[in-house]
Amino acid sequence: MPLVTPLPQFPLFYCVKHPLIAHKLSLLRNKETPAKIFRELVAEITLLIAYEATQDLTLKEVSIETPLEPLSTPMLKDKYPVIVPILRAGLGMTESFLQLIPEARVGHIGLYRDEKTLEPQQYYFKIPQNSEGSAYFICDPMLATGGSTARAIQLLKDRGLHRLTLVCLVASPEGVKIVASMHPDVKIYAAALDRQLNEHGYILPGLGDAGDRLFGTK
Ligand code: PRP
Ligand code: URA
Repeated sequence: MPLVTPLPQFPLFYCVKHPLIAHKLSLLRNKETPAKIFRELVAEITLLIAYEATQDLTLKEVSIETPLEPLSTPMLKDKYPVIVPILRAGLGMTESFLQLIPEARVGHIGLYRDEKTLEPQQYYFKIPQNSEGSAYFICDPMLATGGSTARAIQLLKDRGLHRLTLVCLVASPEGVKIVASMHPDVKIYAAALDRQLNEHGYILPGLGDAGDRLFGTK
């Protein structure tokens, strides 16, 4: 099984296939999974997806000395990529990226969905200064109607940022279609593409409300 499969209908949507991701995602979807385990699973799956989602980071040759001889060897060209969790649920994914790229900086975008209109409402925005050339990884476990992530991408583009990658755990076809049509330049990585949205904008089969399950608020 190839590790990452782009879908013909969404060429920049990559579903990351791996037995560990499939197993952990099943645990995550189970409504009996308590918040502590849920948080751990979100972090572990993010780590596995992040390995794939960071494959376009560029390298440069640097000179070092091993204990035995001088060596020209590759290291990250852009030492300071930016991780941008969409609050709240994206916070559960941030630490995994920082484990892989400890020098990364972190921006935050606060959005919540209006329960009736499902429109994203912005309440916070803070990104690192002087990061125009940096690779940005936007994190949100759920890509449902696509409204929140499309808005987050637009907010970043409005500030001249264009090296954007979206990393989520569960996506809906409706959400991928919206984001891919509004932002056809942005790659999307996910652990699963689910069946559909329900009438309340929740993903089916999904995993419920990611923020509430992460933080035990319901
Ligand atoms: C959830 C989720 C996404 C959004 C997805 O957040 O974490 O940000 O909904 O839905 P969409 O694709 O239809 O916009 P929510 O608005 O529940 O806020 P929270 O993270 O604070 O719980
Ligand atoms: N937000 C969530 O947390 N879950 C969904 O299924 C849809 C939006």
